Amino acid sequence: MNQIKFSVVVVRGVVALSLSIAAASICAQALDIPAAEAVVIANKCGKCHSIDKQKDGPSFKKTASKYKGRADAEAKLVTHLTTGPTIEIDGVKEQHLKVKVKDETALKNLIAYILSR
Ligand code: HEC
Repeated sequence: MNQIKFSVVVVRGVVALSLSIAAASICAQALDIPAAEAVVIANKCGKCHSIDKQKDGPSFKKTASKYKGRADAEAKLVTHLTTGPTIEIDGVKEQHLKVKVKDETALKNLIAYILSR
């Protein structure tokens, strides 16, 4: 009798543990929309970008569809946002803004935000 009870407890423990591991890995990748929007505002990306309207730069929706299904999407946007590539606005070449973010997690969160518009 005692032994049966014990094994039920153990099985429950294993189930509970694997559920909490699954929850933790989902949380680690969860998109933090307010954090991404705060970065966009702080860096004044909105001067040239909007979520769905073309400005001097492409809308985030347009960028999301350009990279949809591409495995290199995140890497391309890390490069774009951190190395100041040359862009052209109204025929004038300039350097793209290098984003100021507190760490790599915030940068990846920003990119996940753009790619999910
Ligand atoms: C002075 C205007 C300007 C500002 C400010 C600006 N961008 Fe851009 N951005 C552009 C232009 C123009 C392009 C298009 C470059 C091209 O297609 O060659 C671009 C392209 C992009 C792309 C698409 C890159 C690709 O590979 O297709 C993303 C994403 C992007 N910008 C995000 C941002 C974010 C995030 C910020 C704020 C940190 C920002 N931009 C600030 C003008 C700007």
